[in-house]
Amino acid sequence: MTLLAEVMARIPLAKPIFDEEMANAAMGVLRSGRWVKGPEAQAFGKEFATWCGAEAAVPCQSGSAALWAALRLLEIGPGDEVIVPGLTFIATATSVSLVGATPVFADVETDYWCICPDDVNSKITEKTKAVIGVHLFGQPFSPRLVEVCKQHSIPLIEDAAQAHGAMLNGKMAGAIGDIACFSFFPSKNMAVGGEGGMVTTTRPELAERLHRLVDHGRDDSLESIELGTNLRMSEVMAAIGREQLKHIDQWIAIRRNNSTSIGHSTKTRPEGTHAWHQLCVLSDDPSGLISAMDSAEIDARVHYPVPCNRHSVYQNHPQHNDTLSVCDEISHRLVAVPVHPSLTDSDIERIRSVLHLRSS
Ligand SMILES: Cc1ncc(COP(=O)(O)O)c(C=O)c1O
Repeated sequence: MTLLAEVMARIPLAKPIFDEEMANAAMGVLRSGRWVKGPEAQAFGKEFATWCGAEAAVPCQSGSAALWAALRLLEIGPGDEVIVPGLTFIATATSVSLVGATPVFADVETDYWCICPDDVNSKITEKTKAVIGVHLFGQPFSPRLVEVCKQHSIPLIEDAAQAHGAMLNGKMAGAIGDIACFSFFPSKNMAVGGEGGMVTTTRPELAERLHRLVDHGRDDSLESIELGTNLRMSEVMAAIGREQLKHIDQWIAIRRNNSTSIGHSTKTRPEGTHAWHQLCVLSDDPSGLISAMDSAEIDARVHYPVPCNRHSVYQNHPQHNDTLSVCDEISHRLVAVPVHPSLTDSDIERIRSVLHLRSS
């Protein structure tokens, strides 16, 4: 590559990392012929639980599958309500609808953009069976959310799809609430070479059922004793995930350095550690910023342009036209710029200069 081509190579918003060890691990599984239900997925679950401090972890096929399993683990279904943030990836809310329950949308915090504990508190009813807090963009949700859920004895599900490695008051995402759900979609902080997810729990009594739920609800005698389905992670994905896990702490440290080097005004919670899945900046001119990034050959996009309650899928939801004031004010203004660990110094400089030019 010439110097000019290298300087102007387009900078993607995300870039999955795949090295020789990961390739070898995947090939090892393929050659073994043991493609499903083998030792890799079992070991991946154990290693992931140890890494994040959970009691147990079960690999599955996606973050969305993990959310489904978490809700079924709590036996949530028709007639139940689950409080979710209005600003998140839609799967947080649709997972609730998919088990037949109703998502109740709460507003987010002005400073940190995670679900607002006071709004959650005001929306709790006798039908509330869980709260899903999202560690949005890698920022841990408020410690007050944990308190509110405890006060009302309502289980707290962490949607940690974007937050591998985030921390709150010394606990890692995955060990903060009752159950946590991770995604290994290729853009995430760690990946598995395809679709993948993980459910963790801090409650040992739930672990056995968690294993069952992703395997047709079957017990050791292969009898289905509760409703489950095949959400098992394949062995190749698990083998790649195990290799990725060896690097995750270092990759998150690089993300953190990158976010500092790029420079931004995004606030981070003092009680937490941001995992920098996304570096989102609140812009007064999001389209101007995105097109300036585009002219500099940098991918950038708004996350998430429309609050979940306003999506057409929720056109019959009682909150479809409700104002969630912070969500409505910021959702179309949050622009994600690259922060991933594969950025070079010159990439960082290019992102930094466009960002600073647009905000000066
Ligand atoms: C906050 C959040 N929840 C859930 C999901 C769903 O994860 P998956 O795409 O692996 O199903 C994602 C994925 O983007 C997400 O960002």
